[in-house]
Amino acid sequence: MIRKIPTKSLEVGMFVSDVGRAWFNHPWKTKSKYISDRSEIEELIRFGIDEVYIDTQKTLKPSSEKKLSAKDFPLKQPGTEQRPARVYSNPAPPKPDPVSALEQELPRAAKAYNKALDTSKALVAACRMNKRIEINAVQENVDELVESVSRNPDALTALIKLRRFDDYTYTHSLNVSVLSISSGKALGLSDSELKVLGMGTMFHDLGKCRVPAFILNKPDKLTDDEFVIMKNHAALSADILIEQKLPVDDMVIKVARHHHERMDGSGYPDHLKGPDIPNLVTICGLSDVYDALTSDRVYHKGMLPHEALKFIYGLRGTHFQPEWVDRFVQSVGIYPPGSVVELNTGHVAVVMEVNHASLLNPLIKIVAEPNGQLYPRPKLLDLQQPENKGFNIQEVITPKKAGFDPAYYFNIKGEG
Ligand SMILES: [Fe+2]
Ligand SMILES: [Fe+2]
Repeated sequence: MIRKIPTKSLEVGMFVSDVGRAWFNHPWKTKSKYISDRSEIEELIRFGIDEVYIDTQKTLKPSSEKKLSAKDFPLKQPGTEQRPARVYSNPAPPKPDPVSALEQELPRAAKAYNKALDTSKALVAACRMNKRIEINAVQENVDELVESVSRNPDALTALIKLRRFDDYTYTHSLNVSVLSISSGKALGLSDSELKVLGMGTMFHDLGKCRVPAFILNKPDKLTDDEFVIMKNHAALSADILIEQKLPVDDMVIKVARHHHERMDGSGYPDHLKGPDIPNLVTICGLSDVYDALTSDRVYHKGMLPHEALKFIYGLRGTHFQPEWVDRFVQSVGIYPPGSVVELNTGHVAVVMEVNHASLLNPLIKIVAEPNGQLYPRPKLLDLQQPENKGFNIQEVITPKKAGFDPAYYFNIKGEG
């Protein structure tokens, strides 16, 4: 029988059938589970969940009032077979599947991401209507993104890979921000630098709100005149920040103005070269190209991450400084979390975590047998471990070809 009870009345052994919240708004991987420890109840209360639904028929109770003691486990005498007294008639709560550190961070990362996505939408709307930008909201969101990346560098990048169904207009700046913070962290930037980078990237394409929609959304090649107008968006992004006299670091304005500058001077608007392009601007530029290449647009399908990295590698030494390209590839990973891969054994797996020290050997979840049969309980496998040396990633396959949504294996399918 399903009953709604106050969260504080929960007890160990009760089965919560529904926490009554969407996946990104509660601390668990699933909406239902047995309470196996009081800390799980406290966690729900910390999340502000005051009431939950329980299934009273599934509540686990000791069948005997007798408590376990040493006498229940007498020492085995030689030649005799004595077994400890059976105390519980009901089965113990099922053991949860092993979860990776990334999966633990995902609900919090998703909360920060969703909040920032709302802010990103508000930013575009304010800009289109010439209204004042709510700088505090952006700052707060960026702080939360930096905190999430500090706890686990891959949860937010996994999320942007798995949530490709949102509108590019609003997700692009946020995705560039996430990619930049995450790679900036891997490159050793301080938290204050990461926050400046996060702000600059959130604002980098603001000027597009002043570019006519027919140019912005044109599926065909732009004419020379249209391209001039389009290119103007970078300078406009900086102009908007200056016009509004927003209390931001100078570097935030530089990231916005210069994110299309390239080391050989072929970029715009100021044709800066090599060392004149600040490092934070370079990180934004790389993340910007990567997100544009991997995103699905109305008129074309996004590239797979390793294809986009190959393309960016081709810009090494011309558009971007070689060492920065190498560092970017290192931080994003050839197989980012959420990639679907086929192994040399024919098994199909989902990449769960990047091994930044060994990009070809991520932590994976084997989800299907070589014959295509999906496993009911997929297994985590760390390709870096010596005992797993027989397994290698053979190729990346699109989720469409694989026939399943990898988000399912992060427990975030179809919600949020
Ligand atoms: Fe841009
Ligand atoms: Fe952009």
